[in-house]
Amino acid sequence: MSPERPSVTIDVVLCQTLLFGGELKGARCAAVDVLRATTTIVTAMAGGAKSFIPFMNSGEVRDYVKSRQRNPYILGGEEKGLKIPGFDLGNSPLEYLPENVVAGRTILFSTTNGTPAMRKAYTESGFPVYVLSLLNIAATTEAMLGEVKNSQAKKIVIVCAGKGGKPSSEDTYCAGLLVKRLSERLTENGLSPDLTDSAQITEGFSSKNEARALQVLRECDHGRGLIEMGFGRDLEFASKIDHYSIAPVFDGSEIRLPEG
Ligand code: MLT
Repeated sequence: MSPERPSVTIDVVLCQTLLFGGELKGARCAAVDVLRATTTIVTAMAGGAKSFIPFMNSGEVRDYVKSRQRNPYILGGEEKGLKIPGFDLGNSPLEYLPENVVAGRTILFSTTNGTPAMRKAYTESGFPVYVLSLLNIAATTEAMLGEVKNSQAKKIVIVCAGKGGKPSSEDTYCAGLLVKRLSERLTENGLSPDLTDSAQITEGFSSKNEARALQVLRECDHGRGLIEMGFGRDLEFASKIDHYSIAPVFDGSEIRLPEG
């Protein structure tokens, strides 16, 4: 009889506000906010940004800079989808794209759902959190696989930012694609993926829509809102699956690219 393959649970929290406390303990987590916080972070990190510090709200950012020199930092993020008064950049990934806008800089970043999702995932798991978007699913898959193999962790949880306390199609879609790829790669590496109900739901939705990334973003509530606000090009950019091969990680203080 062949030895039993070690099993790894894959779970998805469909909206960060559904976290009831305790269920992430010891899990290796990824946080996702496709529209648009994690897409923007991945874009800026790929463009050479030094790091991001995610805050729960803009007030925390203002308090942080009060006791420091303002100059070294870029202040970025959104409230109601728009650039925050007094901040340098909003939450459109395209703003962070031009060469030299963010190269070598640390961005103090506050968004409505995305930055709280990252912070909660870190606080509740106690482990570094991967920053996931459609732009970097393959890189995140490989990084999480490597971590699970090294640490022999038994649980992976993908935390979706959602919107207004409810699940969102775009985050569900991205989470499901990660569930699918992680399942394949864990199996190839001699491990047995064990999908919770919510992981199965996301995987089903993503498989059905696998070749429809841009349509999913255009049809979802938040995508339609962004189009109305004039941010339609953000959706096109955010839908580029595996555009970048980086896996930034939030270590509880900053989001950085792992060394090496
Ligand atoms: C959020 O964190 O709620 C979003 O990133 C909002 C946005 O699209 O700017």
